[in-house]
Amino acid sequence: MPTTVHRQESTTTVRKKQQGLLLALLLSCCLLGAAGGTEPSDAEAIADLARSLARPPSSWKAGGDACSLEGISCSTSGRVTAIDLAGMGLAGTLPSSLSSLTALESLRLGGNALSGAVPPLRAPSLTNLSLDGNAFTSLPRDFPRGMPALRHLSMDNLPLAPWPFPDAIAGCPSLRTFSASNASVTGPFPVAAALVIANLTSIRTLRLSQNMLTGVVPAALGRVASLRDISLSSNYLQGPVPHFSAGVAADVVAGNGFCLDEPGPCNAQVTTLLQVAERFGYPLYLARSWTGNDPCRGSWLGVECSSSSSDVDMIYLYDANLSGTIAPAIANLTGLRRLVLANNSLTGEIPEPLTTLRKLQLLDVTNNKLTGQLPKFKPSVRVLSDGNAFGEPPGAAQS
Ligand SMILES: *[C@@H]1O[C@H](CO)[C@@H](O)[C@H](O)[C@H]1NC(C)=O
Ligand SMILES: *[C@@H]1O[C@H](CO)[C@@H](O)[C@H](O)[C@H]1NC(C)=O
Ligand SMILES: *[C@@H]1O[C@H](CO)[C@@H](O)[C@H](O)[C@H]1NC(C)=O
Ligand SMILES: *[C@@H]1O[C@H](CO)[C@@H](O)[C@H](O)[C@H]1NC(C)=O
Ligand SMILES: *[C@@H]1O[C@H](CO)[C@@H](O)[C@H](O)[C@H]1NC(C)=O
Ligand SMILES: *[C@@H]1O[C@H](CO)[C@@H](O)[C@H](O)[C@H]1NC(C)=O
Repeated sequence: MPTTVHRQESTTTVRKKQQGLLLALLLSCCLLGAAGGTEPSDAEAIADLARSLARPPSSWKAGGDACSLEGISCSTSGRVTAIDLAGMGLAGTLPSSLSSLTALESLRLGGNALSGAVPPLRAPSLTNLSLDGNAFTSLPRDFPRGMPALRHLSMDNLPLAPWPFPDAIAGCPSLRTFSASNASVTGPFPVAAALVIANLTSIRTLRLSQNMLTGVVPAALGRVASLRDISLSSNYLQGPVPHFSAGVAADVVAGNGFCLDEPGPCNAQVTTLLQVAERFGYPLYLARSWTGNDPCRGSWLGVECSSSSSDVDMIYLYDANLSGTIAPAIANLTGLRRLVLANNSLTGEIPEPLTTLRKLQLLDVTNNKLTGQLPKFKPSVRVLSDGNAFGEPPGAAQS
């Protein structure tokens, strides 16, 4: 990069051009003990970094201008453009003043023991960010917002608190690599996220193995034309195996709960039950057990089948902290006799098609937040519906 030079050159330029500023720099920066060309607030941020690292690089102990430190590169104007401290045995945390390094193009911190929160960055030119293999425990809200030029984002092997798939990557249109395997990415792979990825016309590599992703992989992911390398193995993904074209290196099936080992439709009851789980937001505790292609053989949590016909016979998901709505598709489980969803936080209406279930004997939705009109079931169906907000307009009971 022609804009990135080391201090020997930059200091000369800065001294010639900015004689008047030199005194100010001498007085204001120099937290590390020596005069130099680093822009003052950048020097301040690097000094903060030196202080918050429990074990800064040993060469930093001698002090010196920020731009002259090992691992730091600057522009001719004394802005910090790159920090490369990968694999230097660093511990400690990152200071929030890193966000003032607005000229950063590359930040590489992989393979250290850095901990705590990754602070927000505001780096419009940042193209490379690598955080892999540290002990960071949280990310900024809306990560990776504030890095619109990002091309390579690599953050494998981090003990982060669970975080959802980051929709904010929609703000990184040049992204080529997004690698966050073994990084606590949790929850469904939203259809919206697949559409976001489909919009990233440069994306080649997407690695999300060893996380806690649940649910059905949106088919749109298979249609991302730029994709060459995808890994989704060892999650809690369910339903049909997503199809990728022959040119894509895909590590997808192993360690998930897909219904088959290769692309193709699932058994009809599995399809329906996954539509039910989708409405609940594919909760992890269901995703762990609702795997494979036979809900009657694999001990699916809360699902029981009739021994004679292997039809789903009962769904018992009570006291389960479920939120979301009841899927109309339940009406396709024509053998259903009992549906118990009591003591959850379900919203929306009871779907009218449930009244068509010929064998239904018990519907228990006690203590939820259901609204709308209770549909008319046959007299032979025992309906328990106390503790809801029927008759109120949809949405009224959600708060
Ligand atoms: C960014 O990372 C990619 C992939 O690791 C590498 O090829 C490229 O040289 C890096 N660019 C910079 C400016 O560090
Ligand atoms: C997953 O990440 C943790 C740190 O969060 C690390 O200790 C562990 O070795 C990683 N697992 C694998 C298989 O790399
Ligand atoms: C995809 O890009 C188009 C055009 O830039 C935009 O209008 C649309 O909202 C984007 N979709 C998503 C899901 O980000
Ligand atoms: C219940 O669900 C909510 C949101 O869905 C979650 O924040 C909360 O931690 C859950 N509580 C328990 C006990 O699982
Ligand atoms: C039942 O399944 C069929 C075929 O899969 C589908 O077209 C229909 O919409 C489903 N019924 C409901 C109420 O979802
Ligand atoms: C729902 O909770 C109430 C009160 O805690 C309890 O009496 C009832 O048995 C629960 N119902 C189910 C189906 O778990």
